[in-house]
Amino acid sequence: MRLAVFASGGGSNLQAILDCGDINVTVCISNNANAKALARAHARGVETLVLNPGTFASEDVYAAHLLCELQSRRVNTVALAGYMRKIPASVVAAFRGRILNIHPSLLPAFGGKGMYGIHVHRAVLESGARQSGATVHFVDEEYDTGPILLQEKVPIHPDDTPESLAQRVLSVEHTLFPRALRLLRYTIETTIQS
Ligand code: GRF
Repeated sequence: MRLAVFASGGGSNLQAILDCGDINVTVCISNNANAKALARAHARGVETLVLNPGTFASEDVYAAHLLCELQSRRVNTVALAGYMRKIPASVVAAFRGRILNIHPSLLPAFGGKGMYGIHVHRAVLESGARQSGATVHFVDEEYDTGPILLQEKVPIHPDDTPESLAQRVLSVEHTLFPRALRLLRYTIETTIQS
């Protein structure tokens, strides 16, 4: 598996992937030059790349450039680990079934545009839900709608704040994402290409 991890922020999921011991990361790509994720990758000798869609002449030019960067490194799998930009449709199409995203709720609940970060956990608590969790799903052209590969539940405590719930979900994410990537790796390695 040649894996690109896309991350925009803190990168604790990237760190969990780097630390799990059996998953190699080929390149870490960010839209944000200041992302801590880039420093985490760099510290482990993983190549980093900043691609900010806003600096390209158009979405199509950006998409072509991104595709080229992935293909030139023979990337065959993509993990979105806290990546805050939509993946262009042409890249989704080129990597269909090979792009995974992690989301901090039990999708399809509390997903979609605007449902990211602390907003998710606030909405979960406001709904009165008794449990939450994390989901790894395949990426399609919409936000958080692709087929679900793995989910793990976490309890909600009566005194939870959005922040305390976020922490509990995040710690589950750190084992869930490597598990999902191993499943995808297994299917890639055991599928005969036609
Ligand atoms: C995680 O909660 C993930 O589910 C969401 O963004 C957050 C990223 O956290 N997509 P980190 O940057 O990996 O610490």
